[in-house]
This record gives sequence, C-alpha cells and structure tokens, in this order.
Amino acid sequence: MTQVATTDRALPFDVEAVRADFPVLDQQIHGKPLVYLDSAASAQRPVAVLDAMDRYYRNNHANVHRGVHTLSQRATDDYEGARQRIAQYINARSACEIIFTRGTTEAINLVANSYARPQLGNTSEIVITQLEHHSNIVPWQLVAAQTGASIRVLPINDRGELEIDQFEGLLNDRTCIVAVNHISNALGTINPVNDIVRIAHQHGVPVLLDGAQAMPHTAVDVQALDCDFFAFSGHKVFGPTGIGVLYGKENLLEQMPPWQGGGEMILSVTFENSTYAGLPHKFEAGTPAIAEAVGLGAAIDYIVALDIERIAAYEQQLLDYATERLATIDGIRFIGTAREKASVVSFTLEGIHPHDIGTIVDSEGVAIRTGHHCAMPVMDFFGVPATARASLAFYNNRDDIDRLVDALHKTKQVFG
Ligand SMILES: Cc1ncc(COP(=O)(O)O)c(C=O)c1O
Repeated sequence: MTQVATTDRALPFDVEAVRADFPVLDQQIHGKPLVYLDSAASAQRPVAVLDAMDRYYRNNHANVHRGVHTLSQRATDDYEGARQRIAQYINARSACEIIFTRGTTEAINLVANSYARPQLGNTSEIVITQLEHHSNIVPWQLVAAQTGASIRVLPINDRGELEIDQFEGLLNDRTCIVAVNHISNALGTINPVNDIVRIAHQHGVPVLLDGAQAMPHTAVDVQALDCDFFAFSGHKVFGPTGIGVLYGKENLLEQMPPWQGGGEMILSVTFENSTYAGLPHKFEAGTPAIAEAVGLGAAIDYIVALDIERIAAYEQQLLDYATERLATIDGIRFIGTAREKASVVSFTLEGIHPHDIGTIVDSEGVAIRTGHHCAMPVMDFFGVPATARASLAFYNNRDDIDRLVDALHKTKQVFG
C-alpha cells in the first residue's frame, strides 16, 4: 500500500504529510519552489494514484469484459472494482448508475443527447444559470438548435450568487431539465443545490448537477441530494485525465437510448438490428479508459483516507486566510464574493491585465490561471474580459498564499 497522510480526526490536518504524497509539488520553477494554485483547472495526483495505474499496467492489463483469460479477468475486476468504490463514495444505489465517461463535459453531452434531445420540441425549455462553465451551456445550445427548444437562464447577483428567488418562475410544464453547477469554477460560489432539486422536483423537472468543482471540496451524496444526474471529472479530483463519471438514477438511465454505438455496449448485432447491453455498459461503447478508471478509484480511496469533511474544514480556513491576505493589496478587486464559497479567489488588479499578472507570478514560481475560465457569461456580467484566479486544494498551505501575495506585489512594482 502506498503512503497516505494521517486520517486521525483528533489531529490537526497534516498538510506537510499530504504534500509529501504529491511528487509534482517538489520542484523548482524559474529557480523558485513551485506554488501550485490552479487546482480548479486540474488538480495534481498523489503517489497512490500513480502507483495504482503503474501496478495495473505492469501486472494486470488486458481488455475488459470480453476475455476468459486471467489478465482479462483481472483487468475487469480492477475496472469494475473502481466503479463499485465510486458508487459507494457518492452513495449511488447501485454501481450500474455509474457510467464512465471522458469527463464532466462528455457526461453532460451524454445527458443532453440521450436524455433531453429525444423529448425536446420547439416549445421545450432547458433551464441553466448564468454561472455555468461552457460545458454546461454549449451541449444544451447544440440540442436546442437541433430541436427548436429554448434555453432559460437563472441570473446571478453582484456577489456572484444565484438569484434563487427567481428560480421557480423559470419552471413550467415545458421545462425538460434543469442543469446547474454545484460549485462555480470561476467564482467558487457554492450553489443551493438542495433547494434547486427540491423546487424542480415539485414541478416534475429532473436536475443535472455539474459536480466538477464539488467533488474535490465537499462530500457528495447523490441520494441525499436527490439529483437525477451528477457529472464529474477524474482530473479535478486528484485522479487521471481522460476519465469522468456520469451518475444517473437507474430508472432514467434505463429509459435512455445509447448515445454512441460500438463494441462493449451490445448484446447482439445483425445487419438488420442490434440489441443493447444493460446498464452501465449500454453507455460505454468501445474499449474504455481502464487504467484511468483504476486511477480514479485510487484517487477516491485517497480522499476517503484523508476524510472529505476534514479536507473541507482545512480548505475553508485556507480560503479565509487567502481572502484576508489578498484584500491588503491596493487595487485588488474580488470577482465573486458569495457568502457560501469554496477554494477559489478570482480577482483583478487595477491597471494590469490578468495575463500579465499570470506571467509575472509564474516567473516567481507561482501557478495561477488567468482568462475567462470557460465562463464568458460570468465575465460579461462583471464587465471584465478575464480574471486572475487562485484555486486551492488540500495540499496548499499558508506559505503558498504568502508567496502569491509577494508575487502580486512584485507584479505591481513591475507595472509601476
Ligand atoms: C464547473 C465545471 N464544469 C465542467 C468542467 C469541464 O470539465 P472537463 O473539462 O474535465 O470535462 C469544468 C472544468 O473546469 C468545471 O470547472
């Protein structure tokens, strides 16, 4: 078993032990120790994930499901074992409700194409919010364009919170689905998803939650949330790229047609007709990302060992510290000041383009993201083309924040 940092709830969160699990953090960038504050774009992987994938490739790799030989059975056990552990972690009723996808984007496209498109007509409506990542906007626009459906958008306020009082007014008997993010990648806003699901269900409307930013920062229980679909990406939750999950309620998934055809997803094929495999394989055409699923399973095990409640508490303290320290910088403007927030600080510095901020702080060894964060409607709302965004994970510490603040002071000096 690879090392995993302490999990004893009685002890303070041991960030230094956690950091030792992430080899990528132990390097110099431009001659300075790396400070990685871009985990909302993609998080880093612990040794436990790297080892699980390495072990899989060294010992167990073959194609899944089809073989009677030992390696194929081992690969199938590893792949299906990961599915089981993910199901358990998010409290799905059954592992057949866990569909492996390439990531959040593909999971949302699956729902848009397989759940929504067959029922959409030119009077249908899809409800999203002004706070969405492009991957929870564009798939809906594509199916809307194909069917004549329209998209209705729940607005946000000046803090970057959803105008939840207006939500119910957007629902009617033409609403096909509500699709909303659990936590905003651009601003860090934690959305009132329990209320959203409850209100939507009162109107008989199913809800898809984009959980890409929720999974790394908060406990997710899909039965308690009662969402109909939940999507997330492996690489944001300390697992590999190229893998993600769509959770769907079994009765809905059962009714949905496959959205991609090929091997693995069929029972029988003739030139006249094909019949399809049951869940979850009906939605997994072709050879899947086996090692990546194994890696994602290991990432979930790592989080379980650390304890997501402790992670969330630690990150909240770090976010408060970051917000306080950054607020001392002259000319800073926070973009997004929601009362419920997780792990993201988006900001601008007066008179300095965010890309210049990103470049100068990189020269100090500090990695932050600058740009529109795939949320152009959010940027439009705040009247900025881009922001600088520092996003935290449980392997960040106060020293990382201090280094960011110093690098921003340097940026201000450079730009006079
Ligand atoms: C809230 C949110 N939704 C969706 C996505 C898309 O995730 P992926 O590119 O892994 O499919 C992201 C990625 O940043 C995100 O933050």
